Amino acid sequence: MAAGIRFFQLNTGAKIPSVALGTWQADPGLVGQAVATAVKVGYRHIDCAQVYGNEKEIGFVLKKLFEDGVVKREDLWITSKLWCADHAPEDVPEALNRTLRDLQLDYVDLYLIHWPVRMKKGSVGFKPENLVQPDIPSTWKAMEALYDSGKARAIGVSNFSSKKLGDLLQVARVPPAVVQVECHPSWQQTKLRTFCESKGVHLSGYSPLGSPGTTWLKSDVLKNPVVLMVAEKLGKTPAQVALRWGLQMGHSVLPKSVNESRIKENFDVFDWSIPEDLLAKFSEIEQARLVKGTSFIHETYGAYRTIEQFWDGEI
Ligand code: A2P
Repeated sequence: MAAGIRFFQLNTGAKIPSVALGTWQADPGLVGQAVATAVKVGYRHIDCAQVYGNEKEIGFVLKKLFEDGVVKREDLWITSKLWCADHAPEDVPEALNRTLRDLQLDYVDLYLIHWPVRMKKGSVGFKPENLVQPDIPSTWKAMEALYDSGKARAIGVSNFSSKKLGDLLQVARVPPAVVQVECHPSWQQTKLRTFCESKGVHLSGYSPLGSPGTTWLKSDVLKNPVVLMVAEKLGKTPAQVALRWGLQMGHSVLPKSVNESRIKENFDVFDWSIPEDLLAKFSEIEQARLVKGTSFIHETYGAYRTIEQFWDGEI
């Protein structure tokens, strides 16, 4: 396996930079500095979402980076996501406009349906009474219109099972370019990956380190014996090994950090690789989904009453 893997080519022809700075749980007040540091280190891909509540601060920093000539807009890849309360087709363009205003951009490189879940317009929080029946085909039509307009240069989905992605592919005029899902050595998405490969959909992995800072998730990716063994053998950190594993599996990876030394560490994954014999060891790792979407599952919610139903058995 060669080193490198800086980009992956999407079904639109565009090249998505393989390592992004994640911004989920990057607090306002910290995220701006993290984005500036990352871009200076060489990151060319920032993963955002309206619901993260920090797009305004990111926009402010992006504007300054462009003005100061640190990076050009066309050399940066910006992803954002449509929140569940904006799934009604008439609300989709306004949601993207809001994100573009906040990010101070004319277009995003990728716009994703954040979850296959619909909430009442204007609703805040995760109360069961906010949940309404999703209608992905109609939301997707509105996403396709954004793609046609050029305001979203690629469109895709997030937190979809293989089944839901397959259903969407059946009705899509513009096929999704990307599916962004939880993916790391302890949740390898083997079924979805195989499906994506057969359909030409790129898989982007969120929580590629297993979100070690998220107290409500029981993550041990960076302490996994296989990851530790490979890290020791190659003289790399467990985080670098987890990220490099993702790249070699063909996924882009979206590690979040607000810490300068970890931002640098997470980008130092291009001039070395995991040899095939060590890569094979990852198949021994016990698998468990961390992010289950439990806030979207309720016994009174016709769309998703159980975790099995939500993920179509992929748990
Ligand atoms: P911090 O922002 O203080 O660096 P994920 O991207 O899987 O959700 O993981 C993000 C979490 O992992 C954050 O808590 C982040 O903390 C931490 N983190 C980021 N990079 C590293 C690293 N190289 N080693 C250990 N922890 C890291």
